[in-house]
Amino acid sequence: MEGLWLVVLMIFEMALSVQSQLRTGFYSTSCLRAEAIVRSTVDSYFTKDPTIAAGLLRLHFHDCFVQSDGPSWSVPTGRRDGRVSLSSQASNLPSPLDSVAAQKQKFSDKGLDDQDLVTLVGAHTIGQTHCQIIRYRLYNFTATGNADPTINQSFLSQLQALCPKNGDGTKPVPLDKDSQTDFDTSFFKNVRDGNGVLESDQRLWDDAATRHVVKKYAGTIRGLFGLRFDTEFRQAMVKMSSIEVKTGTDGEIRKVCSKFN
Ligand code: HEM
Repeated sequence: MEGLWLVVLMIFEMALSVQSQLRTGFYSTSCLRAEAIVRSTVDSYFTKDPTIAAGLLRLHFHDCFVQSDGPSWSVPTGRRDGRVSLSSQASNLPSPLDSVAAQKQKFSDKGLDDQDLVTLVGAHTIGQTHCQIIRYRLYNFTATGNADPTINQSFLSQLQALCPKNGDGTKPVPLDKDSQTDFDTSFFKNVRDGNGVLESDQRLWDDAATRHVVKKYAGTIRGLFGLRFDTEFRQAMVKMSSIEVKTGTDGEIRKVCSKFN
């Protein structure tokens, strides 16, 4: 019995120490202005190129899901180097072809629930994808060679005009058709209306639990629901950021980002 208590106490202390290493101000003694430096550096780059917001957000998501079996810098950065890959090194990373069941499973494997899934995928309110990622939905979805029937008809025409059958696969496509640069709730309205760009985004409407969350954020009472997405997104990001974080002497802080020390 005493042994059991010791184990419980040790687990509790381990949990505490991980928690205390994941707090704001953790570096206040070793690097006094660490957070301020990161913030002002990101701010200054953002001012020069606001599209880094989407890139950083996506990178952060991949870092949280990919384990050490694949270096995080290998995340496909299609827009910048013109190469896009659907394959991912880690099978635990969600794919745009995933059914809602597969997405739910991959998130729940990381301790994230259905609400977290929908909230976090709401990040697709900014940024873009590319014709080659979505073209199969436009021309080659069904056995008879038709488009994905869940795409809204007028949106389908727009997407087909933007991404012709044999056109340039690296052409960018906004993930949120209405407001690619605004962090707002129109992404959820798009999913509700059949205007989701990625198949995985549109599938969030297939399942009762995820549809409920989409509806909640797509709600028509302006402001109130927008505010709610804002707040819940922050909370979900903090939760996602805590997944399997290496603390203390685990792992290493690279001196050169692209190389092991
Ligand atoms: C089921 C989960 C998800 C899937 C299948 C998925 C898939 C994708 C795909 C295929 C792209 C386009 C990549 C390209 O064309 O180069 C993309 C872009 C993006 N994703 Fe996700 N994603 C998921 C969840 C998330 C989450 C949780 C976040 C952040 C919290 C996120 C943030 C982004 C952002 C910001 C972009 C735009 C990047 C840019 O413009 O540079 N995604 N995602």
